[in-house]
Amino acid sequence: MTETPDRPPIWREDFPVTAAGEDDVTRREFVRYLVLASGTFAASTIAIAAITSLRSVNEGTPRRIVSADRVKPGGEYLFRYPSEDDPAILVRLPDGDLHAFSQKCTHLGCVVTYQPDEDRLFCPCHDGVFDPATGVVLEGPPPRPLGRIDIEERHGIVWALGVQS
Ligand code: FES
Repeated sequence: MTETPDRPPIWREDFPVTAAGEDDVTRREFVRYLVLASGTFAASTIAIAAITSLRSVNEGTPRRIVSADRVKPGGEYLFRYPSEDDPAILVRLPDGDLHAFSQKCTHLGCVVTYQPDEDRLFCPCHDGVFDPATGVVLEGPPPRPLGRIDIEERHGIVWALGVQS
């Protein structure tokens, strides 16, 4: 088919974009892809953050820790759980209840100690204070509660069952 000056070729009806306009279309599509990709990344990040915050991870396998009668009311027992690199603390409150936590402060990782007279777990690095029954932050800069270790007393032996993080 021949092209006449006053009549455009037939294919031009299907592809009406001129060479100068093709750049604009490409840029526009590029921006659409950019917006779509950014939106997808943002949505994925939000979804992952939501799933992570809702999920309770239990690490560690059940392991014997200590004979229960070795930890008197107001006393503590230091051990390592779930691995040998993880310091942990078992405390017996004055009312007799046993609780176990990671000994690593959630601020910068210093080691917390039990202070029964003050009814608290204390981090000396920046005066972080945690509740010895729940591990919740009471004072200071720690952003999160201490990692709690599930424990159970079986026939006079305290067992660690897993870490809640
Ligand atoms: Fe524990 Fe800073 S490291 S309060």
